[in-house]
Amino acid sequence: MDQFSITTPDDWHLHVRDGDALADVLPFTARQFNRAIIMPNLTPPVTTTEQALAYRQRIVEALGPDTRFQPLMTLYLTDNTPPDEIILAKSSGHIHGVKLYPAGATTNSESGVTNITHCHDTLAVMEREGMPLLIHGEVTHDHIDIFDREAVFIEEILNPLIECFPTLKVVFEHITTKDAADFVHAAPDHVAATITAHHLLLNRNDLLVGGVRPHNFCLPVLKRETHRLALMDAATSGSAKFFLGTDSAPHSRSSKEQACGCAGCFTAPLAIELYAQAFDSVGKLHQLEGFASHFGPDFYGLPRNTGTLHLQRRPWHVPPSYAYLDEEIIPFLAGTQLDWSVVSE
Ligand code: NCD
Ligand code: ZN
Repeated sequence: MDQFSITTPDDWHLHVRDGDALADVLPFTARQFNRAIIMPNLTPPVTTTEQALAYRQRIVEALGPDTRFQPLMTLYLTDNTPPDEIILAKSSGHIHGVKLYPAGATTNSESGVTNITHCHDTLAVMEREGMPLLIHGEVTHDHIDIFDREAVFIEEILNPLIECFPTLKVVFEHITTKDAADFVHAAPDHVAATITAHHLLLNRNDLLVGGVRPHNFCLPVLKRETHRLALMDAATSGSAKFFLGTDSAPHSRSSKEQACGCAGCFTAPLAIELYAQAFDSVGKLHQLEGFASHFGPDFYGLPRNTGTLHLQRRPWHVPPSYAYLDEEIIPFLAGTQLDWSVVSE
């Protein structure tokens, strides 16, 4: 197969930041995707409906008038999110999920949840209102090895949570392990997962062999090859529980290339091409459309897109960098060759 078309895809997990950074990165996503779930981990975080609607307005302004792109907003769950905030969020029509960051788990998660039991009343309202809980699934205890944090989260937090709120819609975000894929496969249909392109394409050797590769560092951290293979199986299985979420997370070059570099891979400029590369590597391009364009809206209760995106087998090189703020940003796999290009017709 040298060319194929899919329904216009959506990105169900995206960081676009704010201000000038927002203006720099948003066009990359708007070019390929029709909608994206916008992560709320700004500083300060987006914890209220009012803040989310104001952030949405800034995104709409950054997009300009000629775009069909729709930002789907989220709230950042804290120990103190009042149950009434969920009602407000739901009735706004623009808020499609509430994000659980365990405090300290990742970039800008300091205001996250310190103990999930503090959120029980709010989670009960989310369950009743059909508001999805989007989970960064890692424990943060010092004594738990960073490579085990997702698996421990399933045992310690997720299993009890799902038992306590049996009909709560849950998206286990950017899963990175076979444990997570198995968990989601076995869970009821209202429990789903997003998978990033970088976790489909790389394993932890790509982080460390031959030297530290800061642009491959993200959270949850890349895992060993057996886990990557399990993610590939899940993403290409045709199961509607797994769908596309890039977790494209822009950080300037200087904040990545330093003694304590930020976590996050910037994949937005080449997102769908990366997924095509991954699916093609196992002969499963025919499963890309469900994963990228159908299963996400079906889960969120939104209509599927009506447009079309065309891809052609035409090799190209990922640019070495893009302009970002007053410096530059290094895209994921900068300088390497990819096989698939997006074409306009
Ligand atoms: C994200 C970011 O930079 O905001 N970083 C990352 O490594 N994925 C935060 C997140 O989603 O964990
Ligand atoms: Zn993220």
